[in-house]
Amino acid sequence: MGRQILINDLDKEGVNTLSGYKAIGGYTAIEKALKMKPEEIVEEVKKSGLRGRGGAGFPAGMKWSFIAKPPGVPRYLVCNADESEPGTFKDRFLMEKKPHILIEGMIISSFALGANTSYIYIRGEMMYVFHILEKAIQEAYDAGYLGKNILGSGYDLDLHVHCGGGAYICGEETGLIESLEGKRGNPRIKPPFPAVVGLYGCPTVVNNVETLANVPWIVNNSGDEYAKIGIGKSTGTKLISASGHINKPGVYEIELGVPVEEFIFSDKYCGGIRNGKKLKAVVAGGSSVPILPTELILKTAKGEPRLMSYESLSDGGFQTGTMLGSGGFIVMDEDTSIVKNLWNFTRFYHHESCGQCSPCREGTGWMEKVLHKFIEGHAQTKDIDLLWDIQRKIEGKTICPLGEAAAWPVAAAIRHFRSEFEEYVHQGKNMIDVKHYYRLNNLQEA
Ligand SMILES: Cc1cc2nc3c(=O)[nH]c(=O)nc-3n(C[C@H](O)[C@H](O)[C@H](O)COP(=O)(O)O)c2cc1C
Repeated sequence: MGRQILINDLDKEGVNTLSGYKAIGGYTAIEKALKMKPEEIVEEVKKSGLRGRGGAGFPAGMKWSFIAKPPGVPRYLVCNADESEPGTFKDRFLMEKKPHILIEGMIISSFALGANTSYIYIRGEMMYVFHILEKAIQEAYDAGYLGKNILGSGYDLDLHVHCGGGAYICGEETGLIESLEGKRGNPRIKPPFPAVVGLYGCPTVVNNVETLANVPWIVNNSGDEYAKIGIGKSTGTKLISASGHINKPGVYEIELGVPVEEFIFSDKYCGGIRNGKKLKAVVAGGSSVPILPTELILKTAKGEPRLMSYESLSDGGFQTGTMLGSGGFIVMDEDTSIVKNLWNFTRFYHHESCGQCSPCREGTGWMEKVLHKFIEGHAQTKDIDLLWDIQRKIEGKTICPLGEAAAWPVAAAIRHFRSEFEEYVHQGKNMIDVKHYYRLNNLQEA
């Protein structure tokens, strides 16, 4: 399976409790970290090459080094546990199974950043995980890992879990900050970035759950050791949420650099396509990233094997490549309708657009309506061009990247599967899958 540093030892008794986590070596990094200087920890994280696991892949150590330090002004660390990206379910898995790895990571990271109050912002639909975290945090307080004078170091930290209402936009870091402040989760215009003006107007770092969960291992083993795992600038391991038409859906921890073909077909991971069907396409990094057909997901345009890494998946740009994103790996077999799937995704983005920016608010709705014409069997060829045109007018024209998240899947579906859109045009009503249509619209079949 390769090296595992996050979801290892899940079969051990009580690993979701403080004592069970300590039994597998948990909370040793904290003792080491509190004897280090905060800037030494930042340096180790920089050396590790750890990149943000929330989607954008920005180097974590570099982000930490940008935090402003005006005297007398509090700093905050906020953990992004919103995880609303369709196809991504690894953070909730990690928090459910091993909540203390996140708490330990947050304590060390907060110390490195000079934060004395930190938050975990969790999506409201994940109430069961919220309760797990609350219990784990209480255990950490009782053991002296949180609160005043942690382990006699003189360092104080309070950690709170805050529930969102389940809006996708509150996963965008500035929408999240607004929501945490008690307001509607509308993303902010940047700059200023949160590292300068963040929560309550103070310097703030927002990091994904998985990003922070890597920190204890880095402190215990050094940044250099972490950088030896993975490939090139894609260091470390990555949690992949594998779903769709595969034999073994689930959360996998891979060493970055595993060939995509091995990940899909080997029994170590997804175990191949279910029911002996052929692979048709993959959305490799959550619903926002461009879909790729079989020939391009398995091999780059240069004919090299495509690897599960930031660089390899994006090789060829959006003409022939995609992104690792948040690692939401959605596999589609030969029977999948790309048009129907796209309509489903687009409905999501329309519903979740916060409405601040006209191109996103209006464009996502237009795209949904035009795609619905295909599903209903009365689209014309010019509607394919119209869809292309609308997505072009969203990309790059919004305050936050929800616009791109909605536009990229449309562009990629047309780029790689145009003939399927044409088939919907030519076959008209013959393409309607009545059962699917009724189910999606919550209608009773006549
Ligand atoms: C619409 C939208 C939704 C997002 N949702 C999430 C999310 O659920 N979890 C997450 O970690 N990052 C999400 N992000 C990315 C965050 O804005 C941010 O980049 C991330 O939390 C930074 O953490 P990292 O550097 O550790 O990846 C989202 C971004 C956008 C534009």
